[in-house]
Amino acid sequence: MTHITETDVLIIGSGAAGLSLALELAEHVDNITILSKAALETCNTQYAQGGISAVLSGDDSLASHVEDTLNAGAGLCDAEIVKFTVEQGPERIAWLIEQGVPFTQVNDSEGKPIYHLTKEGGHSHRRVIHAEDATGRAILSTLSDKVKRSPNIHLLEHHIAVDLITGTKLGLSTSRCLGMYVLNLNTGEVNAIQARFVILATGGAGKAYLYTSNPDVATGDGIAMAWRAGCRVANMEFIQFHPTCLYHPDAKSFLISEAVRGEGGRLLLPDGSPFMNQFDPRAELAPRDIVARAIDHEMKRLGCESVFLDMSHKSHDFIIQHFPNIYFHCMEFGFNMGDKPIPVVPAAHYTCGGVITDRNGQTDVEGLYAIGEVAFTGLHGANRMASNSLLECLVFAHTASRDILAQLKEIPPPPALPAWDESRVTDSDEEVVVSHNWEELRRFMWDYVGIVRSTKRLQRAQHRVDLLKSEMSEYYSNFRITNDLIELRNLTLVADLIIRSAKIRRESRGLHYTLDYPKLDSIVQNTILVPEIKKENL
Ligand code: FAD
Ligand code: SIN
Repeated sequence: MTHITETDVLIIGSGAAGLSLALELAEHVDNITILSKAALETCNTQYAQGGISAVLSGDDSLASHVEDTLNAGAGLCDAEIVKFTVEQGPERIAWLIEQGVPFTQVNDSEGKPIYHLTKEGGHSHRRVIHAEDATGRAILSTLSDKVKRSPNIHLLEHHIAVDLITGTKLGLSTSRCLGMYVLNLNTGEVNAIQARFVILATGGAGKAYLYTSNPDVATGDGIAMAWRAGCRVANMEFIQFHPTCLYHPDAKSFLISEAVRGEGGRLLLPDGSPFMNQFDPRAELAPRDIVARAIDHEMKRLGCESVFLDMSHKSHDFIIQHFPNIYFHCMEFGFNMGDKPIPVVPAAHYTCGGVITDRNGQTDVEGLYAIGEVAFTGLHGANRMASNSLLECLVFAHTASRDILAQLKEIPPPPALPAWDESRVTDSDEEVVVSHNWEELRRFMWDYVGIVRSTKRLQRAQHRVDLLKSEMSEYYSNFRITNDLIELRNLTLVADLIIRSAKIRRESRGLHYTLDYPKLDSIVQNTILVPEIKKENL
């Protein structure tokens, strides 16, 4: 295993954001390192189903994609960023096609192959390009092949970033980010890696909730590390719940893509009656916040364990052709989508808020970037529109690469960094604290900070997270770090940021719905939290 102590660009994360940034930089930079805390493909990107939104047909327009995104975002999107991102879309898709991503094609009326575009909630046109129903897997396998073959990129799998090292933390005259402490999960060693530029491409924090479509790595590490390093975060209260995950004790919140509803899937109550048109004229294709809330409402009203998604009016061939991955996965659990409706429930899916960046991905700390789901660019507002996330990963990986390249020659290598100090810690004698706190956190986040909130529920959650934070801080100071301890420490901090943000928002907007303030406020503002370390240095 290569032992790296110095690199020009250190990218934390091997999803769509991290890999595309690495590949764009590798054309000009010969010393790039990517860290991934698990195997490369263990990330949200790998599970992306529906596709990527971009204006790719003559019937569609940039103005329409902008308008749909702004509508889904419930008044909180940054209109300039939306326009910028949407305009970049077609070029970023062309880049992916150039890399070799096998997007699904069909023949047009003259028999000429064209890319198939599907539709999802909130989109007024067909504009979601996809690779069957496993778009993320296709992107990741194409990009990772290239990354693995690049002589300029070093990939360190099973290495978890612990904390950022900044000039401020070291008491130097610069506040710049200088590198990072990294735990090698194969050996248990913690090393400092110096870097001229550090990029957080660490994804979201779905694991803060008991039920989530996200894989285990989605523990909000990047948000927590950036916060501790002095970065502001915004809009953490907007956690998106995907309306339709398969309901089965062993299915571990397997996602049933919104594209299924885009291609005609209908939501039904247990007695077989449709209900979505009572909640929104767009019915099944209303934005996600509305559909998830409607399902939650009906499940609570009827006391049922799930609602149902019906595709049985479509032929088996149609379903298998469009959704092979979903169809066969459901079959493994004994559900044949072609024969009868399948049980579905909402689950935590996407973190709309995150580390505040400019349009180059630059955070509040010089030399530190955040791209992809970890970042807050202003694109998603109070509710992300389907398939705009992979687009954001690609667009801001591209702008960050340009920005880094423009500065690389001027930035000197950072100074030597202090070694990790383990002199005052011992091996944990009570691992149960970590496993107990994991479960407790995820359950109260689900119960008190979920799809429907109230002031009382948020206060309850705040009491509990305060306690967990102090326990984790003591535990972290006394015991040798492990993967689980690092993740739980980060997740506890991120849960605190979600709860604090939710308490500040005294209205219901987009994904944040509270019984105590059920209406929109006339004042439209982002929830921005500022860490103490930044306040001290203002
Ligand atoms: P990720 O792909 O999550 O990658 C994060 C990386 O960071 C991982 O490699 C992880 O190991 C690494 N990491 C994290 N912390 C550390 C650490 N401390 N040290 C080292 N490494 C670390 N979006 C769409 O636009 N279209 C879709 O169709 C779509 N479908 C989805 C389906 C599912 C089931 C899910 C879960 C999400 C879906 N999304 C979709 C959302 C989208 O997939 C994600 O937002 C996007 O892939 C995030 O990419 P990313 O590169 O930011 O992060
Ligand atoms: C899906 O396929 O429903 C997920 C799309 C997304 O999260 O953008």
